[in-house]
Amino acid sequence: MFLRDIWYFAVPGERLKAGDMLHKTLLGEPVVLGRDAAGAVFALRDICPHRGVPLSAGKLYSDKTSGCGHATLECPYHGWKFRTDGVCADIPSLVPGQDMDVERIRVRSYPVREIQGNIWIYMADERRADAPPAHEPPVLPHFDGARPGLRETMIFDCHIDHAVIGLMDPAHGPFVHRSWWWRSTASIHEKAKDFAPNPRGFTMVAHKPSSNSGAYKILGGAPVTEISFQLPGIRIESIQAGKHRVCGLTSVTPLDEKRTEITQTFYWTLPFLSVLKPVARQFIRAFLKQDGDMVNLQQQGLKFEPGLMLINDSDIQAKWYHRLKNEWARAGEEGTPFVNPIEPVTLRWRS
Ligand code: FES
Ligand SMILES: [Fe+2]
Repeated sequence: MFLRDIWYFAVPGERLKAGDMLHKTLLGEPVVLGRDAAGAVFALRDICPHRGVPLSAGKLYSDKTSGCGHATLECPYHGWKFRTDGVCADIPSLVPGQDMDVERIRVRSYPVREIQGNIWIYMADERRADAPPAHEPPVLPHFDGARPGLRETMIFDCHIDHAVIGLMDPAHGPFVHRSWWWRSTASIHEKAKDFAPNPRGFTMVAHKPSSNSGAYKILGGAPVTEISFQLPGIRIESIQAGKHRVCGLTSVTPLDEKRTEITQTFYWTLPFLSVLKPVARQFIRAFLKQDGDMVNLQQQGLKFEPGLMLINDSDIQAKWYHRLKNEWARAGEEGTPFVNPIEPVTLRWRS
């Protein structure tokens, strides 16, 4: 199943203009995401509590035009109106004397945050749907208030676990990403990387990128990179090259059991990267597609539910991912604090 009581990347901020609504299935649940005229983002369960019609198919009114002083969504079937916090504001069919406390009718509302151009949604456990989030979404270091320079999204036809493990897997690079601009099989060599726990995951501590990771070379300087992973499927790579910085956010969000959305977002301070954007976009697409094609191919075998192996040390990050998930789920079930089970360690592998 999917982890609860945690923030997932929902949608790029630029996808929602003021007055927009969009439907999205997240963790198998129908969600309407929207932005009111004042710019505030909201997320509600996309099911009208009256008779089930998706609210995203209706209209979004601003506080000025709704007639009740709040931004509201109007269901297209019988016109019930809901505030963006999910509280029912109006049932048009009621006549005077039909006393009904419409405010007692609510659509589930999900906490949302917009940070650095990314919209995050907090997917609480059903039993804690009304409780405020217990923590805040990830913030990318050194890019306070920045807007993304480049973004690509792709859907993998697999469960989130295979997408996350596929993306963090260090041993597939020379095979899946074999290309003149990234890796060749001949460049495989032994690597040793230091890892340390972080609040909801683990960090490959700052190091010089491998000599066979070609794309780093264009940054100039002597690049140093730090890569952190945190639940539920967030990878942040922070690169420093001379006085400049590049940050990559990889967010993995389950749409449902069989479809997972990967969004790759980049921020940078190097002016020349903006010029390279069209080219960079092609590379990022190609790179993501190589990963996506492989997990899609993997589905052919997984259909038969074979046993799978995780070996040392190249699959230890995958083992950690499972341990972190289990611990998160346990903490949620028992209502006790999450305790990160990972210890600092050096991992070695050839890639
Ligand atoms: S189904 Fe939404 S108002 Fe009736
Ligand atoms: Fe990959």
